[in-house]
Amino acid sequence: MDFALNDIQVAVRDTAQDFSRRHIRPEAARWDREKIFPAPVLKQMAELGLMGVNIPSQYGGSEAGIVSFSVALTEIARECAGVAVTMSVTNMVAETIADFGTEEQKEKYLPLITSGDYPAGSFALTEPGVGSDATSLKTTYIKDGDDLIINGSKQFITSGAYSGVTIVMARNPEIKGGKGISAFLVEKDTPGFSVDREEEKMGIKCSNTVSLSLEDCRINKKQLLGKEGQGFKIAMTALDGGRIGVASQAIGLHQAALEAAARYANERVQFGKPLSANQAIQWMVADMATQLEAARLLTLRAAYLKDKGEGSCTCQASMAKLFASEVANQACIKAVQIHGGYGFTGDFPVEKYFRDAKTTTIYEGTSEIQRLVIARNIIGL
Ligand code: CAA
Repeated sequence: MDFALNDIQVAVRDTAQDFSRRHIRPEAARWDREKIFPAPVLKQMAELGLMGVNIPSQYGGSEAGIVSFSVALTEIARECAGVAVTMSVTNMVAETIADFGTEEQKEKYLPLITSGDYPAGSFALTEPGVGSDATSLKTTYIKDGDDLIINGSKQFITSGAYSGVTIVMARNPEIKGGKGISAFLVEKDTPGFSVDREEEKMGIKCSNTVSLSLEDCRINKKQLLGKEGQGFKIAMTALDGGRIGVASQAIGLHQAALEAAARYANERVQFGKPLSANQAIQWMVADMATQLEAARLLTLRAAYLKDKGEGSCTCQASMAKLFASEVANQACIKAVQIHGGYGFTGDFPVEKYFRDAKTTTIYEGTSEIQRLVIARNIIGL
């Protein structure tokens, strides 16, 4: 068993780390405060190959695999989890088009995403009344000659206002459950497709989260992604990869929180000695570091299995997402605690990590849904 990254994985990680430290670190707090979607930085990331890490080079991707994607995303999230989620969802959209698209769709959309000409891609599954119970989604499509007409609303859509193309899941109203759902590629300027309210979020504030309306949104049947009725499986396959992305994002936050906590514990002197001289603090740091290592190993294993492509990585992706997001939240709480009153202010970055970490246990399937997926895989339900 070899735990070392190969040369390509190291190169992709180092590229992301170097870029992130130089271009994201100095601005992350301001983007968060002012809720700035950092489009120019995302374009630069695309030019470095970070918006199509696992996309074949013929479509402008880096063709570097999921382990590379995971370690690169972790480095971006160490500096800003909001930028990381934009990268994660855009890569997920590109991969889903690469996996299920026709040659025409791949040639049209993938270069636009991987080059950064599209600032982002979006994935529209969730609706105002439909979150965890995704097979009950209500957005519909009907056929009209060579066209399809989509009606419905989508909610909590990452990058929805900036996305060049959105994967929209909609149902044939005559077929209930997952089998009635198909996936469609809807371009930003399609008549009837519009961006509604932007959410006021607790964290990841530089990412864009909006609701979308589809009102008699007419697309050509060539915009169907995969086969008719395959949409739910496409969404679930996409989320297997997306969950590795969220786990990697959580690892980046966790690592940043650990580093900040250790640094502060060494610098801050109380009762005549640094905080780090107290066993209570040492134990917190030890637990944070051990959980980080375990989260990283689980996530890299899920990424490795997805790279190998020999069977499903659904269970491992859910385990990675569940564990990495839960322990990242615990680590961020401890990092704030170690900082005491200062940790509760915007003067130190741990306050942002704490806010940013919360959503990792919620989006792309809550911790409860991950447990359901894992239990079904183990028990065979
Ligand atoms: N890969 C491929 N196929 C899969 C699959 C997977 N990982 N998981 C399920 N399927 C298939 C099943 O095999 C089944 O196929 P058949 O009908 O042929 O048997 C079909 O899909 C339906 O599956 P289930 O019977 O398991 O469906 P369910 O309704 O019982 O439960 C669920 C499914 C796991 C709960 C699912 O609804 C789920 O994951 N819910 C959470 C949704 C979610 O993660 N939303 C996040 C929104 S996206 C987001 O947050 C992105 C963002 O912008 C940040």
